[in-house]
Amino acid sequence: MEKSMMDQDILKVLYTEEEIAQRIREMGRQMYEDLKDKEPLFVSVLRGAFIFMADIVRACQVRCDVEFIAVSSYGNATSTSGAVQITHDIQQDISGRHLVVIEDILDSGNTLHFLKQYFLTKGAASVTICTLLDKPSRRTKAIHADYVGFEVPDEFVVGYGLDYAQKYRNLPYIGVLKPEVYTK
Ligand code: PRP
Repeated sequence: MEKSMMDQDILKVLYTEEEIAQRIREMGRQMYEDLKDKEPLFVSVLRGAFIFMADIVRACQVRCDVEFIAVSSYGNATSTSGAVQITHDIQQDISGRHLVVIEDILDSGNTLHFLKQYFLTKGAASVTICTLLDKPSRRTKAIHADYVGFEVPDEFVVGYGLDYAQKYRNLPYIGVLKPEVYTK
């Protein structure tokens, strides 16, 4: 494929489209074995996880339903402000349900720490966490993902749902953004 305008802002590719697809197939198979008797509710955290959600639910052929929750904590900044706000909530009663929260990245842990408590308070029977990327070096909250696609270094990653200032989400691969893009 011809290099796009967005590709020119990428320092290096961390995971190609094919590598991501392969890893998601593996995760989906594992999750199927673990979840097949639970009729889980998959909850995608918008916006970053929208692409991963679409792929992981098809890779994990359990009987399930899907929901979406939107939270905001970063705005256009590159590091978290700490406060998590729900800007769109799930639309059904989750009491007694086994939730699988789908995230694109687990960074400080702030978002998932908040959401796990939130769902348990609302009566979820269990909250399982599935994240495509994990950046453990940045963790400030005690939170652990049950399923991790890739552990990533502390670099500014974009693509496959992940943004910088709401852009680059539609890159099919995951790459590191050139520092001059976010420091100018
Ligand atoms: C990103 C990402 C996670 C969160 C992870 O969301 O999608 O939800 O940050 O970071 P944390 O572990 O430090 O909380 P962001 O607020 O950038 O919004 P987005 O999903 O719309 O990109």
